[in-house]
Amino acid sequence: MEKTKPFPKSVLISESQIRERIQELGKQISKDYENQELVLVCVLRGATLFFADLAREISLPLRFEFLQTSSYHNSTESSKEIQFIRTGSDYVKHRHVLIVEDIIDTGRTLKFLVEHLGSLNPKSIKICALLDKPSRREVFVPVDYSGFEIPNVFVVGYGLDHGQLYRNLPYIAVLETISID
Ligand code: IMP
Ligand code: MG
Repeated sequence: MEKTKPFPKSVLISESQIRERIQELGKQISKDYENQELVLVCVLRGATLFFADLAREISLPLRFEFLQTSSYHNSTESSKEIQFIRTGSDYVKHRHVLIVEDIIDTGRTLKFLVEHLGSLNPKSIKICALLDKPSRREVFVPVDYSGFEIPNVFVVGYGLDHGQLYRNLPYIAVLETISID
């Protein structure tokens, strides 16, 4: 029988497209939060590269916070149970909060995060997601800043993984099945 493996074959969003879009998002966010105190919340691990690049395009004195949830368990299908692995929330109270996430798929992770952070008395909560798969949405979550809308394909790179691999690719690629002999 032919052997196959998942492999990031075709580039969906290039390095330069990512860079340009993040510059635009940074400008917009800087304008919208002018003269305000903003906490940028990184959702580990997928959002790390996006978070680091976006933060440097925002011309405001930011605070950083890091949260981690788990739901995926090595597969390409989202499980419906979401748990916290790390909850850091010291800085959120009475401040504007912007959640920075790699991708919004069913919407369950972001809904969970908004509910959690909302219970900590922030001044406001908004969402910035690099990628959005609108066709997969199961629960409604308002995405205030969105990098790119993508079709229903599984993507890796620029922070996103498959079985923890490929996060370091500098672009976003579609995971495809290739044959190995
Ligand atoms: P949601 O809770 O279904 O919206 O899923 C959000 C999480 O699922 C993201 O933070 C990612 O970690 C993961 N995810 C969803 N789609 C993809 C994908 O295409 N590639 C890699 N991870 C994904
Ligand atoms: Mg994630």
